[in-house]
Amino acid sequence: MILTVATQPFADQKPGTSGLRKKTTVFQQPNYVENFLQSIFDSLENFAGKTLVIGGDGRFFNREAIQKAIRIALANGFGRIVVGRGGLMSTPAVSALIRARQTFGGIIFSASHNLGGPNGDFGVKYNIGNGGPAPEKITDAIYARTMTIAAYKTLDAPDIDLDALGVVALGAGSVEIVDPVANYSALMKTLFDFDALRGLFASGFTMRFDAMHAITGPYAHAILEGELGAAPGTVVNGTPLPDFGGHHPDPNLTYAKDLYDLLMSPQAPDFGAASDGDGDRNLIIGRGQFITPSDSLAMLAANATLAPGYAKGLAGIARSMPTSAAADRVAAKLGVKAYETPTGWKFFGNLLDAGLATICGEESAGTGSNHVREKDGLWAVLLWLTILASRRQSVAEIARQHWATYGRNYYTRHDFEEVDLAGATALMDALRARLASLPGQSFGALKVEAADDFAYHDPVDNSDTPAQGVRVMFEGGSRIVYRLSGTGTVGATLRVYIERYDPPGGDLGEEAQAALADLIALSRSLAEIEKRTGRKEPSVVT
Ligand code: G1P
Ligand code: ZN
Repeated sequence: MILTVATQPFADQKPGTSGLRKKTTVFQQPNYVENFLQSIFDSLENFAGKTLVIGGDGRFFNREAIQKAIRIALANGFGRIVVGRGGLMSTPAVSALIRARQTFGGIIFSASHNLGGPNGDFGVKYNIGNGGPAPEKITDAIYARTMTIAAYKTLDAPDIDLDALGVVALGAGSVEIVDPVANYSALMKTLFDFDALRGLFASGFTMRFDAMHAITGPYAHAILEGELGAAPGTVVNGTPLPDFGGHHPDPNLTYAKDLYDLLMSPQAPDFGAASDGDGDRNLIIGRGQFITPSDSLAMLAANATLAPGYAKGLAGIARSMPTSAAADRVAAKLGVKAYETPTGWKFFGNLLDAGLATICGEESAGTGSNHVREKDGLWAVLLWLTILASRRQSVAEIARQHWATYGRNYYTRHDFEEVDLAGATALMDALRARLASLPGQSFGALKVEAADDFAYHDPVDNSDTPAQGVRVMFEGGSRIVYRLSGTGTVGATLRVYIERYDPPGGDLGEEAQAALADLIALSRSLAEIEKRTGRKEPSVVT
């Protein structure tokens, strides 16, 4: 039986960079998830009888949210709901399944790399039929709906058993529980030569994959250890936990420090990698050699044709604006177009759908390709393994040769987390007010060439997205970018992205923070970070 439940709007349901993300306690309020889900369905058309994929990263409140979503989706007229066993499915696997089954769309419950648990964060986002995050036109409509919603529809039905594979009837439709790994693993086999990868591990190649107690554990176990023959124990922290073991499931040098320390130690395996809460991010570290995400994008793009899935070459390479320009140099050499988009994966969707770009990436540890419409952590690992299997060189050797060919983009991101929103907004406003006066000014040896507030024109749907971050560009390819995060849940997070280009043959040393010292100092003074946020030092440096 379909129930119509009266409700009242919440004022805080504006989707951010990746859907709606809030403290778990906010999501636990009566009607909170229900309102948002109903607002999603109210913003969609023509889905009666169609199929919806629902996945989650397994964090605290995942199962409850999925049970609600199943009932509300069926009550709104969907015909079939496909759910991963245990309510688990990584974000790229949801994207892959939407595409493979040509479903109407999908719902993903995750707060990505944010802390989980009762005191952590929760989130939900809607993906469209191409498998990618809903574009702003839809997220804007969802937000508008959340402000006027008065009722939601649900089924008067008990919870279903999320752990039993198979199909059960519910309401006027049905729910299908699937193995969350199977379709994803099959897709990977179409892109990569699993025999070659098995050969790599059989030759004695060693690796550690840190699943951070999050969603990629089952995927990495099945693919790396199960299919490819990596030694048992290659995957660590491989069981998804509702609170991620109390850790931040964010694969960066702060939260995956154990992995970094191991790879820098005498006991280092050949290769180390990690993925985040929902499996779309990746961290790549070779023995003694960290690879920045921006460099990883460039190196993957430069070597992509070594994998069968990309043997025909790349149509183009896309990166988010704050991502370093290393990938642009690869695109130039390959003779393909480089695209620069606002932060957030949703902006890559049109480029991929139109066949303009094949590989995309972000400095925030996201890389992916046209195989899905999300970034994909394990995919990046498999492409790196493909390169290592084919070139039979170390990660460090591959990196050195890359820099010798293209030059090196030294890069760092400094995050000032949970700062006062008013102060952070005033900081951005003050920077924007100075944009016109900066070009031509010199700060020590650094001369400003151009400064702007990044605006994006989508070449496919002709939409415009203004005010995506302040860029201060210096002669010689150095750059400082300032923007406020769209995924935080407390106060504001100021992100400062710092980059310097060292042409082939240059030698700024190995250490990024040292190579960037003058730009880092300037990034602080130019924006008056301490005065406006009260912070002397960033909370996270990546
Ligand atoms: C952050 C990253 C961005 C990524 C997003 C979702 O967004 O910077 O690249 O797409 O998470 O994973 P932000 O908090 O900066 O808005
Ligand atoms: Zn994520």
